[in-house]
Amino acid sequence: MRYGFVILLLMVMGTTLAQAETYATKRLAEDGIHDPENDAIKILQEPGESMIDFPMDRRGQIDWVQSIRSKKVNPRRSLNGGEYDGEIMIETDMDIIMKRTANMPNVRFPHLAHTEWLTCNNCHPKIFIPQAGANPVSMEKILKGQFCGRCHDKVSFSLWTCERCHSVPHEKSGDAYVDPAPSK
Ligand code: HEC
Ligand code: HEC
Ligand code: HEC
Repeated sequence: MRYGFVILLLMVMGTTLAQAETYATKRLAEDGIHDPENDAIKILQEPGESMIDFPMDRRGQIDWVQSIRSKKVNPRRSLNGGEYDGEIMIETDMDIIMKRTANMPNVRFPHLAHTEWLTCNNCHPKIFIPQAGANPVSMEKILKGQFCGRCHDKVSFSLWTCERCHSVPHEKSGDAYVDPAPSK
């Protein structure tokens, strides 16, 4: 009975891992976004081809932070390609340590990794009041799609790579997570 449960769990985990491996390189016709019946799909480059040597995280998703740092990508500053398009991009290197994390390591929120892609306006003041500790963030709310969950698990990296956010160990937490098999 007990073994049955373990085997079932391993099977479920196996499927999830198998899916994770192919996530980044899923064919356009099978990604659930593009219409496979539409002829125009043939003029688009397959992700598996365009992102073949991009750095990946341990779930097999593209690591966009490493991609921008290693200059694999160089995003435009605005929709039209100019420096200024109604809103200005200001890269800001300011980390906020968020400490209401119970037994998990504290969260380091890096402004830099965000302001390389986003303007201040994308977050302030609608998602976060710009004041350390002023926002009633919790993991439950994040999982329900509020605060960090507005983007993470959607357009940004998965909530299941806990260690990318919970990266600052403290007295009551475990040690920092070390990837047993770093991809790159
Ligand atoms: C991806 C979302 C996001 C973006 C984009 C962003 N911030 Fe923040 N900002 C945060 C979060 C989260 C906090 C911490 C809030 C908390 O602790 O409750 C914060 C805090 C702040 C604080 C308070 C610091 C303190 O010590 O009290 C300031 C000031 C700030 N941000 C300015 C900016 C500026 C200027 C920009 C644009 C250059 C920017 N932020 C872009 C999410 C963002
Ligand atoms: C996108 C960043 C992010 C990821 C990924 C993430 N967390 Fe969190 N987590 C937070 C933030 C932010 C808080 C609230 C910190 C604060 O307000 O001081 C938090 C709070 C928590 C808390 C404190 C209690 C609570 O319910 O709020 C626990 C426990 C927790 N996270 C566990 C996890 C686990 C387990 C994972 C992976 C399955 C995970 N987190 C992934 C950002 C993240
Ligand atoms: C408006 C969208 C948005 C919100 C809200 C947001 N993020 Fe992010 N986050 C991003 C994007 C985009 C990136 C960079 C590209 C990527 O990794 O997907 C990023 C990157 C990060 C990184 C860098 C990871 C690394 O490997 O260096 C951390 C840590 C992070 N976010 C934590 C948080 C936490 C904690 C919150 C909430 C307090 C939060 N983010 C809220 C969009 C967002």
